[in-house]
Amino acid sequence: MFSAKPFALVSALFLAMPAFAAGDAAKGESGFKKCKACHTIEADDGTIFLKGGKTGPNLFGVIGRAVGSTDFNYGDSIKAVGETGTIWDEETFVAYLADPSGWLKEQTGDSAAKSKMTFKLSKGGEDIAAYLASLGQ
Ligand code: HEC
Repeated sequence: MFSAKPFALVSALFLAMPAFAAGDAAKGESGFKKCKACHTIEADDGTIFLKGGKTGPNLFGVIGRAVGSTDFNYGDSIKAVGETGTIWDEETFVAYLADPSGWLKEQTGDSAAKSKMTFKLSKGGEDIAAYLASLGQ
């Protein structure tokens, strides 16, 4: 018997998808120039995708990774968020970049929370997320 149910299910899944436009990895690769002074991208096996600075943590595999989970010496606020099990996905990544300290305040509920990252990115965060995700986990 033909049933319309699977189609209804598929459209329901579509509607449930986050409202973010999928990022453009090629644009993100050039956008990463803004991050390079402080962040390197190096895989666990030693493959260096981009040699950058060490002021911030290695961003290889960051999309899908728990917040504040490398051996970097993170600030207390981001460590507190990491302890709640929050994962970097496109949505959390874009929100964090737009205002790192503001995002940490919101996530921790602590008005004194602050980020060691002194940089804000108001647009193009989803492209950088797509670029980093394309390099693997
Ligand atoms: C001036 C240096 C600086 C620049 C530029 C910078 N960052 Fe950061 N970033 C940091 C530091 C320092 C931290 C650690 C924050 C903390 O411990 O509170 C950090 C943390 C992060 C984290 C959290 C990683 C984790 O392991 O949980 C992400 C994601 C991130 N940065 C992305 C970016 C991206 C993408 C850019 C470019 C658009 C960028 N940053 C530009 C210094 C920088």
